[in-house]
Amino acid sequence: MKSTIRTFAAALIASSALFALNASAHGNVVPQSVDTTGLPPVGDKWAEQNPYRGNKLALKIGASAYNQNCARCHGLEAVTGGIAPDLRLLDRDCLDVKNDSKKKACFKEIDNYFLTSIRNGKVRNGAVYMPPFEGVFNQEAMWAIKTYLEARRDASN
Ligand code: HEC
Repeated sequence: MKSTIRTFAAALIASSALFALNASAHGNVVPQSVDTTGLPPVGDKWAEQNPYRGNKLALKIGASAYNQNCARCHGLEAVTGGIAPDLRLLDRDCLDVKNDSKKKACFKEIDNYFLTSIRNGKVRNGAVYMPPFEGVFNQEAMWAIKTYLEARRDASN
């Protein structure tokens, strides 16, 4: 029994080492940490929606964080080259919702989906379509990126 566990643990370690190797074999794939100094801290709990909508500093930090960590798949300035979804479209449909409280609910739902997507990445049947970012950078950085994407959405309307 003990040796089974040990073998399993060894296999786990080997596969994460392989993952790390794979990740670094693709050039500038190493995730970049993001300096969020100056942004109001969000706290220990995950926020239910973007606390920085329209915040200028969040926009600036988010732009740089996006370009270093997301652009290689989602495209420079969030204009996708077709490999991964165009993130300017994420909550564009919410803009057309007429009822105010439904509109708010729409943005909140998409914020939630955004956060889940970047915390967990996109992994299906063992294939990593997008790596998880939880532990790579903090929640403040994640919402700063969302703020940047909202500005890109508005610019493309
Ligand atoms: C290695 C490539 C890669 C990187 C790097 C990457 N993504 Fe993704 N992302 C994808 C792919 C591919 C999908 C679609 C996955 C699927 O088919 O389920 C995706 C999906 C998403 C989605 C869901 C979009 C939707 O319309 O359903 C969000 C949100 C997202 N990514 C945000 C980000 C952010 C923010 C970053 C940077 C912090 C990032 N991604 C970095 C490849 C990547």
